[in-house]
Amino acid sequence: MKNQFDQIIVGGGVIGCSIAYQLAKRGYRVLILEKNHIGCEASSAAAGMLGAQGEFTERSPLFQFAQESRALFKDLSEELYEKSGIDIQYIHKGIMKLAFHQQQYSKLKTIAAFQREEGNPAYLLSREEARQMEPGLTENLHAVLYLPNDGQVSACHLTKAFSLAACHHGAVLQEQEKVSGLLVENGTVQGVRTIEAAYYADQVVIATGAFGDELLPEDYGTLPMKGECLLLELDQELFRSTLWMEGCYLVPKQGKKVIVGASSIAGKTNKHVHAASVQRLLSRAQKMVPQLAEARISSFWAGVRPATADELPYLGEIPGVKGLYVAKGHYRNGILLSPITGIYMADLIEKKPVNPFYYDRFRVDRQSNKREKAGESK
Ligand code: FAD
Ligand code: GLY
Repeated sequence: MKNQFDQIIVGGGVIGCSIAYQLAKRGYRVLILEKNHIGCEASSAAAGMLGAQGEFTERSPLFQFAQESRALFKDLSEELYEKSGIDIQYIHKGIMKLAFHQQQYSKLKTIAAFQREEGNPAYLLSREEARQMEPGLTENLHAVLYLPNDGQVSACHLTKAFSLAACHHGAVLQEQEKVSGLLVENGTVQGVRTIEAAYYADQVVIATGAFGDELLPEDYGTLPMKGECLLLELDQELFRSTLWMEGCYLVPKQGKKVIVGASSIAGKTNKHVHAASVQRLLSRAQKMVPQLAEARISSFWAGVRPATADELPYLGEIPGVKGLYVAKGHYRNGILLSPITGIYMADLIEKKPVNPFYYDRFRVDRQSNKREKAGESK
């Protein structure tokens, strides 16, 4: 039957495309339905940092998941290039977290101790040592925490590459086709409905990021967290590592460009970029690298991060609807977590054994999320 598939993936962001890629690679007939075009939401707004250390200041269920995911990128970049012809621009030059005074330095020391306890390299550098590595850094530094194993990719190239690699393995991609409802019979999912047609599959995965909550029971919605970014163009490369201070990061990109990110505005899904956010980001950017004052503003944009009450993603089957899965809520780290999420979801769908720790912490009906939600409504 023309509209019959093994799995339907709703949402063509980095998460949906990574899952589609893993399933298609395992021989399944996969359909990706995207309401607009591939990577049109958060997945191309992202700065592309692989902050498996930089984004984590303490032990959490995501920390281990993030470490495993970061480790997949080197081989993945080659694999995706072979199958899609796209270079995801994987760069492995580390993240520097900057302290401008003693109090910030104390925090960095705590993070460094935590990272080392976990067996990760984490170096505290003096101002002189940091400026020797990155001469573009300001003289007004106090100290730096250097995390050499964190890297970065181009988020939009990664998303596109996953989708093309899925198609290389036979997946079908339908853009400009919004899923408006699910087809469910006797507690089992049968497929989905769009304005154009009905599509059928044994499993449906909702991977709609900060959107598409209407497709799911109320309990499993996400919380939007808008983020604004700028792209700067330089005449010469000023630094190679990603630089980070409280409230701002700088991610150097190919072609002497730098992404400056990002604001965090809860509850908003609009894409306006506010003058005040631009002002704050530019002022922090110049605080880290004064020569950025000479840069040209090339573009600016906003995207919506999909958060959850306990800041962990929903990865699993929806209780009471057999065959209906969700992979949403990757919040600040969806690019980093996309490779492991694709593998994890494909394993779940194939009923392969998965790490019970992840299963327990990311399942959609977990207790921690309910507790956080209850706390919020007080
Ligand atoms: P999305 O990318 O939002 O994709 C969901 C897709 O579903 C969209 O394309 C949408 O059109 C589609 N859709 C929705 N409803 C329907 C429907 N009914 N039918 C069909 N299609 C539908 N993460 C990192 O790891 N590193 C970073 O450096 C980083 N920086 C970020 C900076 C900013 C400013 C922002 C906003 C985010 C950043 N993130 C970063 C987070 C990351 O972008 C997200 O976690 C990730 O992109 C989420 O991917 P997703 O596929 O779940 O969602
Ligand atoms: N991970 C960076 C951001 O979400 O802005």
